[in-house]
Amino acid sequence: MEQSQDSRMGPPWSQEGSPEEGLPTEWSRQWTRGRRVLIAILLGGLVLGSSVLWVYIFRNCGPRHCETPVCLDLLARYLASGNSSVDPCTDFFRFVCEKGNGTSDSFQTLSEENKSQLWRLLETPGSWHLGSGEEKAFQFYNSCMDTDAIEAEGVGPLQQIIEELGGWHISGNWTSLDFNRTLRLLMSQYGHFPFFRAHLQPHPSPPHTPVIQIDQPEFDILLQKEQEQKIYAQILREQLTYLNRLGTLLGGDAQKVQQHAAWFISFTSRLFQFLRPLEQQQAQDKLFQVVTIGELQEMAPAIDWLSCLQAIFTPMSLSPAQTLVVRDLDYLRNMSQLVEEELLANRDLIQSYMILGLVDTLSPALDSKFREARRELRQKLWELKERPPLPASPRWMKCVEETGKFFEPTLAALFVREAFGPSIRSAAMELFAEIKDAVILRLKKLSWISEKTLNEALNKLTKLQVEMGAPKRALKPDLAKEEYNDIQLGPSFLQSFLSCERSLQGRKVRHFLQPFAHHRWTESPWGVKAYYSVSDHVVVFPAGLLQPPFFHPGYPRAVNFGAAGSIMAHKLLHIFYQLLLPGGCPACDTHVLQEALLCLEHHYAAFPLPNMSSFNGSHTLLENAGDVGGLAIAFQMTTWDPLPTL
Ligand SMILES: *[C@@H]1O[C@H](CO)[C@@H](O)[C@H](O)[C@H]1NC(C)=O
Ligand SMILES: *[C@@H]1O[C@H](CO)[C@@H](O)[C@H](O)[C@H]1NC(C)=O
Ligand SMILES: *[C@@H]1O[C@H](CO)[C@@H](O)[C@H](O)[C@H]1NC(C)=O
Ligand SMILES: *[C@@H]1O[C@H](CO)[C@@H](O)[C@H](O)[C@H]1NC(C)=O
Ligand SMILES: *[C@@H]1O[C@H](CO)[C@@H](O)[C@H](O)[C@H]1NC(C)=O
Ligand SMILES: *[C@@H]1O[C@H](CO)[C@@H](O)[C@H](O)[C@H]1NC(C)=O
Ligand SMILES: *[C@@H]1O[C@H](CO)[C@@H](O)[C@H](O)[C@H]1NC(C)=O
Ligand SMILES: *[C@@H]1O[C@H](CO)[C@@H](O)[C@H](O)[C@H]1NC(C)=O
Repeated sequence: MEQSQDSRMGPPWSQEGSPEEGLPTEWSRQWTRGRRVLIAILLGGLVLGSSVLWVYIFRNCGPRHCETPVCLDLLARYLASGNSSVDPCTDFFRFVCEKGNGTSDSFQTLSEENKSQLWRLLETPGSWHLGSGEEKAFQFYNSCMDTDAIEAEGVGPLQQIIEELGGWHISGNWTSLDFNRTLRLLMSQYGHFPFFRAHLQPHPSPPHTPVIQIDQPEFDILLQKEQEQKIYAQILREQLTYLNRLGTLLGGDAQKVQQHAAWFISFTSRLFQFLRPLEQQQAQDKLFQVVTIGELQEMAPAIDWLSCLQAIFTPMSLSPAQTLVVRDLDYLRNMSQLVEEELLANRDLIQSYMILGLVDTLSPALDSKFREARRELRQKLWELKERPPLPASPRWMKCVEETGKFFEPTLAALFVREAFGPSIRSAAMELFAEIKDAVILRLKKLSWISEKTLNEALNKLTKLQVEMGAPKRALKPDLAKEEYNDIQLGPSFLQSFLSCERSLQGRKVRHFLQPFAHHRWTESPWGVKAYYSVSDHVVVFPAGLLQPPFFHPGYPRAVNFGAAGSIMAHKLLHIFYQLLLPGGCPACDTHVLQEALLCLEHHYAAFPLPNMSSFNGSHTLLENAGDVGGLAIAFQMTTWDPLPTL
């Protein structure tokens, strides 16, 4: 029985990976592919937790009955997700997960439930302190929800912004395009990056100090070359329709808008052609070039790099000698050349390209006509690609997400206060300590590991940091009282939104400039993604994950070990992935190790997929090792016969 579950369980949490996880490209690429496969085939992620509890309940061999409300609630969840008329010894998976449809996964559900908890908090009058940063968060949320006011504002606030940018010669007042100024404002004040993206990132190589990284733009209005020619034409048509709608909503003359929208599409596809083919991008994912701003200015002279980057990254102080990390220098060269040519030939059209792109970027903060246009475009593209229909997410969820993004310290503190009190945190720390001990025991029993490697591994484990629930500052409420002095709310929602956007960008920059003290979380505390950060050697378990049905101090131990515990074990095992790679452990008995890996691959290959093909575990070998290893460790803690481990 235990044999059959691990095939289908687990992987939902193996999706969790930090962008920082510096694993070799080949592997990470394969994971990404493998994960997609897994997400598609794996129903809900709770099989392990359920299995443990079911065994308790049905074999009646558990230590105690649990009839507290939290246990009864858990039982109700299990009953609702499984099919108790299936014989568990014949098809354990259906017994536990029959009703999960493959579309819903329990991480998704948990994430939505956590957001709805934030929603309840934000909707509760008086749950915040007057005059504090909290008040601003609530006000922002309320103005996001006030769709009547947003409708009443209409297109006015947007037109004002366009005028600040020098106007648009298709509607309203305008001046001739001042290219460098407009571009600088677009990127630093309005969060729109038409030709390239720039962000602060930990340097790709140790010691991972923050550095400005220049990437290709996000082709948000996505053009996918690999689409079949027929769909490609249809995609372009839909995008054209969308841009036309934006232009006419802005009051442009229909015929002129049509001409400019068409040029937008052709210009975007020319930029798109400068990108390396997708496979090459992935293969070279880990490659980068370091250049100074001065050097980049010579290679891509169309852009005023220093003044643009200075505006985006204030209060950093930049000079031409500042180094940057660039992923695709050829793209920037070619882009610059094209922009220079088009500025000579089609200056007005470049202006339209920038303005229409901005309107698209800002559409979430605009009135319903713009939002609806965008929603319809996404829907149509989705249909063309024959994906299942997009679930419409309610307004409150969008507003909770925006508020969470802009006011994260405040919402983190509220969430922790509500859902991750000190007793829950210490129970989670205890669970983690036990899991860590079990990992150490297991490591010592590995037959293939050399003594030296073992000692290094144990040493690595001792040095590992853990962050549980929320970043340290959110756990100290007085530290979390961010004031957001630079945020100006009103008069329109669009202006509030932009002010929040700028404040967030400023905070990010200042945060990066501070001397490095703690790990910088890449997940919200109410998120559900656990991860291991290679650069900081820290494992992170957000409070949003350590919630029912994954974790509760009142659950039987087996449930906590089975669900949250095996996720913890999985993340701990990430530290040792390097050892499993070819050549990763020269001193080890590689023969025994290879046998074990092969065994794992065969184990996975033996599982039938719904479409009668078999699962190719070689794509996700490391993650599978993490899943099975995590499971084995969790089982070890629940006193059952442990599964064989790698
Ligand atoms: C079966 O389904 C998996 C996962 O959806 C997919 O990767 C695979 O290509 C499918 N195989 C066949 C033969 O359709
Ligand atoms: C539960 O399993 C039984 C027996 O296999 C089957 O007849 C029934 O349709 C299943 N129920 C659901 C909801 O899938
Ligand atoms: C499974 O799918 C059916 C129909 O597609 C739907 O009615 C049902 O609610 C889904 N169940 C779950 C648990 O998502
Ligand atoms: C997060 O979601 C879980 C999932 O059910 C829920 O039980 C828990 O109460 C939520 N957390 C908060 C703070 O609402
Ligand atoms: C154009 O500018 C004039 C004077 O600055 C102003 O009164 C008018 O409202 C502007 N028109 C539009 C459409 O913004
Ligand atoms: C981009 O630039 C490189 C050299 O800088 C050149 O070899 C290549 O052909 C250009 N690509 C396109 C699509 O023009
Ligand atoms: C923008 O600034 C750069 C750097 O100063 C300059 O080379 C370029 O010509 C400027 N572009 C325009 C259109 O003025
Ligand atoms: C699984 O994929 C790998 C790499 O793509 C391939 O070499 C191997 O033959 C595949 N195995 C099976 C059983 O299809």
